[in-house]
Amino acid sequence: MLDTYAPFVTAYWSQLLAVVVGFVVASFVRPSRDRDGSDSSRTGKNTLRENNNIAQPPLANGDIDRLVDNQTKLESCEPNDAGDTDGNDVDVDWEALASGGQHIPYSLPRYNDDEMTQRSIQFYRDMNQRRSVRLFSTDPVPAEVIDNLIRTAGTGPSGAHTEPWTFVAVKDVHLKEQITEIIEAEEKINYEKRMGQAWLDDLKSVGTSWRKPYLKTAPYLIVVFKQSYGFRADGRRKTHYYHETSAGISVGLLLAAIQNAGLVTLTSTPMNAGPKLRSLLDRPINEKVLLLLPVGFPAKDATVPDFKRKPLEQILIVK
Ligand SMILES: Cc1cc2nc3c(=O)[nH]c(=O)nc-3n(C[C@H](O)[C@H](O)[C@H](O)COP(=O)(O)O)c2cc1C
Repeated sequence: MLDTYAPFVTAYWSQLLAVVVGFVVASFVRPSRDRDGSDSSRTGKNTLRENNNIAQPPLANGDIDRLVDNQTKLESCEPNDAGDTDGNDVDVDWEALASGGQHIPYSLPRYNDDEMTQRSIQFYRDMNQRRSVRLFSTDPVPAEVIDNLIRTAGTGPSGAHTEPWTFVAVKDVHLKEQITEIIEAEEKINYEKRMGQAWLDDLKSVGTSWRKPYLKTAPYLIVVFKQSYGFRADGRRKTHYYHETSAGISVGLLLAAIQNAGLVTLTSTPMNAGPKLRSLLDRPINEKVLLLLPVGFPAKDATVPDFKRKPLEQILIVK
């Protein structure tokens, strides 16, 4: 009967059988990248296996390593930096991640419309006072305030709750001098060779230069590290999804907290100084410098560029 209806199958049955057997074997013997890498997370297989408590082999040369290495090369405070993929090609199975943990009740005070409007206006007014300040007073800031600022930064959301950030608050005078030396040396090269005329022209209105005296005068320098990856309890690498975005959001909260405390800061990117700062501050290789924020009071004679912010109509589209 097969001869009549499927002569092809009869003629090539042995080859067809070999293909089917090969396919079945290949789907059992998968390369390690599929077991532990981000490719699997695209299909949800990785999380599915973890939910089933099947042990995963340690990461070797999988996709996550490649992703992390790419990020390392691309970081803005590292040499040859130019943007960051930030794990955006990692597709996360959020539902599978969320299903593992216990949930607890959550509620907030509910304001009426007037209260809500008043609160939102007041918060906007406070935040609208925020400016990047480059002239600092040497007046000290209580250590407890710094603790609370960082606590606030640590309330930020993060990809899969990985909390991929470390904040190093430097108050030691000698360390601040060393940081200044490292950053000014790199910034001199940045301004003279790396940045190019268009960038320098754009910076004219801001009035910056390679000199950073505020790094010595501000009572604290908060060096923000993003953690490209972390470690599980058994020492295996743990993917930090969207770590740069997450760390950036935490810095947004930090800026708001600094403003709320009546202090000022400058969001700064110590371009190409990242590795030296990491080494000086004794931080591990999975941490990369994201930003540096001097924190303190403005100097008595502090000034800021006369900038206007875009009006609401230019930044909000309601549909
Ligand atoms: C990601 C980022 C990087 C920045 N890097 C620097 C920097 O390296 N040096 C500096 O003086 N200002 C830096 N700034 C501050 C900007 O110049 C400043 O935010 C901008 O001029 C607007 O001024 P405002 O913060 O007072 O509103 C940076 C700001 C951001 C958000």
